[in-house]
Amino acid sequence: RLLIVDFGSQVTQLIARRLREAKVYCEIHPFQAVDNAFLQDFAPRAVILSGGPASVLDEGAPLPPPEVYDLGVPVLGICYGQQAMMHQLGGRVESGHHREFGRAFVLPAGGHSSDRIFRGLFDHGKEEVWMSHGDRVTELAPGFEVIGTSQNAPFAIVSDPERQFFAVQFHPEVHHTPNGRLILQNFTRLAGFNGDWTMAAYKEEAIEKIRAQVGDAKVICGLSGGVDSSVAAVLIHEAIGDQLTCVFVDHGLMRQGEAEEVVTLFRDHYNIPLIHADEAELFLGELEGVSDPEEKRKTIGRLFIDVFQKHAGEIGGAEFLAQGTLYPDVIESVSFAGGPSVTIKSHHNVGGLPEKMGLKLVEPLRELFKDEVRKLGEELGLDERFIGRHPFPGPGLAIRCPGEITRDKLDILRRADAVYIDQIRQHGLYDEIWQAFVALLPVRTVGVMGDGRTYDYACALRAVTSVDGMTADYYPFSHEFLGETANRIINEVTGINRVTYDITSKPPGTIEWE
Ligand code: XMP
Repeated sequence: RLLIVDFGSQVTQLIARRLREAKVYCEIHPFQAVDNAFLQDFAPRAVILSGGPASVLDEGAPLPPPEVYDLGVPVLGICYGQQAMMHQLGGRVESGHHREFGRAFVLPAGGHSSDRIFRGLFDHGKEEVWMSHGDRVTELAPGFEVIGTSQNAPFAIVSDPERQFFAVQFHPEVHHTPNGRLILQNFTRLAGFNGDWTMAAYKEEAIEKIRAQVGDAKVICGLSGGVDSSVAAVLIHEAIGDQLTCVFVDHGLMRQGEAEEVVTLFRDHYNIPLIHADEAELFLGELEGVSDPEEKRKTIGRLFIDVFQKHAGEIGGAEFLAQGTLYPDVIESVSFAGGPSVTIKSHHNVGGLPEKMGLKLVEPLRELFKDEVRKLGEELGLDERFIGRHPFPGPGLAIRCPGEITRDKLDILRRADAVYIDQIRQHGLYDEIWQAFVALLPVRTVGVMGDGRTYDYACALRAVTSVDGMTADYYPFSHEFLGETANRIINEVTGINRVTYDITSKPPGTIEWE
């Protein structure tokens, strides 16, 4: 296995992700945990030293144990990792007079760029890379030579071919270093990994970790019907069986057939103990007369916690709460914690629950990205149609029904949404779209159907492309598609007589209407 020593970079997980893409098994361990005894015990076949915010020039700067260089295995230092390596092996690091952030180009510097680790690099002369550093190396440690150089980083890529030590000033793990994955893959191959690790193996390891963490304690999991919580639940169930109980809080704001689907899938198909908390009466009752978006969100959030607590209490003696937190959720909450950002929407999640209920967390998907969760889901036998589902917000249809919510309106919205999604699937567009839904507008307009006058609701179709939901573009449907869909909705859904298409991007709009 490969060891990644984490010095606290925001993108350390991306190194692991690239290695998983190269089908290599790796583990990330924080530098505090990595001492010589750990190294001997772990016996890595290769080591990567990550980037990080510290400066090796500071007193008490985090460093790997010097024995890491005596293991006789390849070592790759990235950014701070490079500086640590040079500092420890006899080179020199200075505080950067030229801080360098963003795109840079690295040119070959004459060293042994034909070495296996650099195979495929510099084929087109220069390499585009992503830099983010203040300090920089100004003198190489003995045995090292320069392979690549950039305007502000004379030692952008260095290597000691003899000992198989390599170091780069830039971040090969980020998307903005197009050939970075090649460097990482080459590094693993040179270290003797042949790329035969699979998601099936990941699953087994994750199961072992869950067993080790949970022991014979009871775990509860809030199931939303979304991909993340579902994959987490199925995985945990494989690990600890009926020590897991799922609680599905059904707020009556799900889409057509969705609640039944969740219950059938988990209870009947997977045999997972599931409490179906059918609380539509409660939620819809409390939401009566509420039309302000934030008030809706807060009401739903508060009730959700109450209901979840009530049902979780019935299980009795649970020590853990399982959550489908993904890596992007982790970085976002870390990098924005305490930041001066304003609340655009009060997102609904179970954030405060663990403390409130005195529960410890099990988060088996914390290291994964969305597409990897989907792969893991496939591995667990979850249906492709289920895994590929568009995201659905916690507050459900409440925020797709601007103004006051009524059962009638929800019913109309559900039927229109089902027709729209059916159209998208039939035209083979579902997987190209990040999210698509209907919003029922609180406006009635006049129409004519047959020989009669109608006075019904208008709705808006929404479909966006996005990579992470943070920014989004509207999806460019053809006019034929839009025309056909509008026709079907008006013909098949009593209560709607006008259809519009929302072509706002995010920003300035948001994906949901509220
Ligand atoms: P917005 O509307 O903020 O949505 O552009 C971005 C993404 O987040 C989803 N969303 C939510 N997800 N709880 C969730 O779990 C929420 O309260 C919530 N509000 C919005 C939205 O569907 C989109 O994918």
